[in-house]
Amino acid sequence: MRTIVVKIGGRLLHSITATEINVGKTAEYAEVLRGLSDDGYRLAVVTGGGDAARLYIGAARRLGASEALCDQIGIWTTRMNAYLLITALGSKAHPVVPRTVYELVGALESGKVVVMGGIQPGQSTDAVAAIASELSGAQLMIKATDVDGIYTADPKKDPNAERIPEITHGELLKLILDAGLQAGEYAPLDPVALKILARSRIPIRVVDGRNPENVRKAATGEPIGTLVKPEEKRET
Ligand code: UTP
Repeated sequence: MRTIVVKIGGRLLHSITATEINVGKTAEYAEVLRGLSDDGYRLAVVTGGGDAARLYIGAARRLGASEALCDQIGIWTTRMNAYLLITALGSKAHPVVPRTVYELVGALESGKVVVMGGIQPGQSTDAVAAIASELSGAQLMIKATDVDGIYTADPKKDPNAERIPEITHGELLKLILDAGLQAGEYAPLDPVALKILARSRIPIRVVDGRNPENVRKAATGEPIGTLVKPEEKRET
């Protein structure tokens, strides 16, 4: 059975001001995930915190919270997004959000779509999805985000930025680390997640999640967005 881990950016589920939850988009994601599950895919989904996380973390920081507590608050917002998606998935979903990746592996045994958020301070939901990909033996991770792939520079700032159709884990890590040296760094994927995917040679496709249908296309192998793939194995 093909196992896929899907990371859904929190910003796709909220308006930019976080004064509104995008209920319609959440329902559209549920529809796509239900369809993939019916087609026999084993699915683990990780929801990001998006603007809700930024809003709560900003408030906590102004009130003097430690960075670890800010992260914990961020994790709770990712779990709230997970519960909204579980609600939209109805009986197709495992009803409880796993709090660890080990709970995730157990929950996948149910055959239901499992949805989770963050797990521990000091990391991102990209990293959670990468660890979940390793532990569940996923053949592919999909990252649904608010741009249509990975670019040579930040596409929101640089008009000359070009989309990269395919790149290796190692080449992307170098691109991210080089960009990180400049102000206003461009981080299309958490480097921690990238290193985890690289060591286990798990490909990831980054797609425009503003249209949830793109997650189905990525799962079924359509060459959209950016494919980040392992290096070719050298003959010894
Ligand atoms: P996200 O990884 O979702 O950040 O976690 P994000 O920038 O909102 O990502 P998108 O836009 O949804 O893709 C939100 C916050 O939750 C905490 C971090 O503080 C992070 O900034 N978090 C999340 C953790 O501390 N640990 C986790 O395992 C996950």
